[in-house]
Amino acid sequence: MAKIGQDIDYAARLLTKGGLVAIPTETVYGLAANALDTDAVVKIFAAKNRPSFDPLIVHVDAAEKLERYVAYVPEAASKLANTFWPGPLTMLLKKRETIPDVVTSGLDTVGIRCPNHSLTQDLLAKLPFPLAAPSANPFGYISPTTAQHVNDQLGDQVEYILDGGPCRVGIESTIVGFDDTMPIIYRAGGINQADIEAIVGPVEERLSNNSNPLAPGQLDSHYAPKKKLRISSLKDIRAKSNDRNIGILLFKSSDIDSDTALVLSPKGDLNEAAANLFSMLRELDQMDVDLILVEPAPDHGIGKAINDRLHRAAAKG
Ligand code: TXA
Ligand code: MG
Repeated sequence: MAKIGQDIDYAARLLTKGGLVAIPTETVYGLAANALDTDAVVKIFAAKNRPSFDPLIVHVDAAEKLERYVAYVPEAASKLANTFWPGPLTMLLKKRETIPDVVTSGLDTVGIRCPNHSLTQDLLAKLPFPLAAPSANPFGYISPTTAQHVNDQLGDQVEYILDGGPCRVGIESTIVGFDDTMPIIYRAGGINQADIEAIVGPVEERLSNNSNPLAPGQLDSHYAPKKKLRISSLKDIRAKSNDRNIGILLFKSSDIDSDTALVLSPKGDLNEAAANLFSMLRELDQMDVDLILVEPAPDHGIGKAINDRLHRAAAKG
């Protein structure tokens, strides 16, 4: 099992000598290494059992550092950075040679973001290099939103877990790329489409799937528990709610009363639901049930990101 604590200096020493450290962000925990050190980055792929064709996001502590790693910043990108950083927004930008190919899986763009978490901000400020970090879960499984989640699954692979408490947003960053200078949303996440459009005008959404694998990690059958998961209407869930072999994840309070039911947000608040999503999926996965039925969230705002994760989780065989 890994050491868990809040010692930024210790984390910085480990990272400087090429080690892996799990870091808290506002979205999910990341599995971090020095993004400029190829050998260190290779360890991330091995620890997660992640295919080398799935690129990593690079984390910086300030928008001013963008130009060190990125060749060109479209005007829309600087507006978005100025508005949403630090925060749950990743941008795909043309990379400079400073970023090793292993980080971007050979692509000429790099995913880059500035996370909004004070411990990780302080850590990044101490380091002379940015941090490459995917979510700190084994490839394809549910992302971790507490230090304990990381320890449960990658405790033997990571030297230290920086414990920043439960993640406030609880769902990964929104990924925005640029077709020439036109922004495009490639992954729904912590920042809503409407909030992005308020800054840069209408934005196309091009969420990837198995037939459109632009972002390889966006394949179907991601974010999946080990148990079979099915998205179901409240009516269907109600009809099966007496079956103790079925775990239930409800969006808000209802008349359904079952020992194996969890509620994402009793009052139906989308942000609260997002923050609870991954830890409740883990809890259900550990229950003695064969199947998990999930009520989808209202499909707007961060609810779209919640439903995107649920559909991918349900896509697993
Ligand atoms: O909130 C987040 O973004 C978290 C925290 C730790 O920052 N990170 C995260 O990383 O979700 P990961 O590796 O689990 O997901 C990153 C996604 C993957 O689907 C990857 O394929 C895509 O971003 N990606 C990264 N760089 C890319 C690039 N240059 N072009 C296209 N897709 C890219
Ligand atoms: Mg991930």
